[in-house]
Amino acid sequence: MRVLVITGAGVSAESGIPTFRGKDGYWRNLDPAKLATPEAFARDPKLVWEWYRERRQRICNAQPNAAHAAIAKLAQHANEFLLVTQNVDDLHVRAGMPKEKMVQIHGNIFITRCSRCDFSQKDYKHEHEQEHEHEHEHEHEKEDQDVDLPRCPECNALMRPGVVWFGEQLPWNELQRVESYLDRGSCDLVIVAGTTATFGYIIDWALRASRDGGELIEVNPEETPLSQFATQLVREPAAVAMPQIVDQIIGS
Ligand code: OAD
Repeated sequence: MRVLVITGAGVSAESGIPTFRGKDGYWRNLDPAKLATPEAFARDPKLVWEWYRERRQRICNAQPNAAHAAIAKLAQHANEFLLVTQNVDDLHVRAGMPKEKMVQIHGNIFITRCSRCDFSQKDYKHEHEQEHEHEHEHEHEKEDQDVDLPRCPECNALMRPGVVWFGEQLPWNELQRVESYLDRGSCDLVIVAGTTATFGYIIDWALRASRDGGELIEVNPEETPLSQFATQLVREPAAVAMPQIVDQIIGS
């Protein structure tokens, strides 16, 4: 069986990570869709970093839920499998998903990269970030506006989170991995879970993968632009629906 699974913020919702477009997504009364932009970072990098630091911390404290575990189980049983996640958290990996079977198409929140050159580093722990900030504070004691803002050790430009912001291109290598999986053949099963499917490429990948009569299951309590194309609609939270779907598939 050849499988494609596409996930969005709804899959991590039951782990306590707020979605982007739901009412819980607002942070200090600010719309995340307006914070996750190059323009917001240019205008107020400190504010944008504060939001990402809080999200990192929340993710560190969160645990993968039953949906993450079910998807990892499906990956083990399918002959060919790819997970394309729009989520920048590490909950799929912590649930046991092998990295070679997944693509984080919107990046990884625990990577910090330079906004100018190619330098990047992994920041796994919030504590580590704080150490980094304190070192930095000493370096720039008089530059109040720079306190808390990490700078590139190579070129001294501002560092930014390693995620894709609105209006930015998708990472080339990750995009190629998705394209080559789709080019190699159609899928028997496509599951799209917990995403508003706002981006055209999400719908495009789901339709291309299921083009030869494959099953296209949408798991989402709400209707989305993809719903009209699905062969099966599951209007339930992912942590409830995914274990049932996976058990049915593996059992059959
Ligand atoms: P959104 O916040 O847009 O949508 C979350 C979706 O999950 C909605 O359709 C909800 O109905 C659904 N949902 C909520 N709780 C759920 C649950 N327990 N189980 C299943 N579904 C549930 O998140 P995404 O679609 O992932 O990109 O957003 C896509 C991208 O927009 C993000 O990756 C991010 C954002 O801007 C960038 O930052 C580039």
